Amino acid sequence: MSARHADAHAELWPTFGLTVVDGDRSRIDLTELFGRSAPVVLEIGFGMGDATAAMAAADPDRDFLGVEVHTPGIGNLLALVGEQHLTNVRVAHGDAMELVHRIDEQSLDAVHVFFPDPWPKARHHKRRLIQPSNVALLRDRLRPGGVLHCATDWPHYAESMAETLDATPGLRRLPATAEPHARPTTKFEKRGADAGRPISDLRYART
Ligand SMILES: C[S@@+](CC[C@H](N)C(=O)[O-])C[C@H]1O[C@@H](n2cnc3c(N)ncnc32)[C@H](O)[C@@H]1O
Repeated sequence: MSARHADAHAELWPTFGLTVVDGDRSRIDLTELFGRSAPVVLEIGFGMGDATAAMAAADPDRDFLGVEVHTPGIGNLLALVGEQHLTNVRVAHGDAMELVHRIDEQSLDAVHVFFPDPWPKARHHKRRLIQPSNVALLRDRLRPGGVLHCATDWPHYAESMAETLDATPGLRRLPATAEPHARPTTKFEKRGADAGRPISDLRYART
């Protein structure tokens, strides 16, 4: 971590941080975590957290729980939280699906999975985040009408995402214009677009 990240971590982790321990199945009380009762957005794999901070700043009536395994990203999002005086962000460090198991069913307003690792080799596809068992868990955490929003710059992953999401009972695909909350451009999106890859946004509502 840079000095900026380390300082933010030392100062803000006790208030805004949550360690995800593999195998821990204790329930996370979202109202207690945020200190208020408001719609909660889970962002999986927020990278450096710039898009998370921008969305939280633009949407103060919702709470944003970001989860990431990459330590510099944790430090960067905490630094952004401090610099922008954001109170509606919490930063979880660890494996996203371990965290998801600890969240009540029907308790999330939205789940964002922006530009997850594509794992392009066929023998690595099983490592992809968007796969049937994970999608079923995510769907169950959404409230009825809550939105699962995935984005990718890899056409083959977009195809497989759409196939998996279309086949998941209890999810209904939304038209491209139906998402009320705009998505900022992310770092990996820019990287993909600069390389000429098309961006796919896939949004599904829990029925
Ligand atoms: C390709 S990057 C995209 C980052 C960011 N969303 C963006 O669009 O710039 C994928 C991120 O997901 C994180 N990640 C991968 N597997 C994860 C997991 N199981 N739990 C939490 N984060 C994960 C990686 O550390 C990485 O930062």
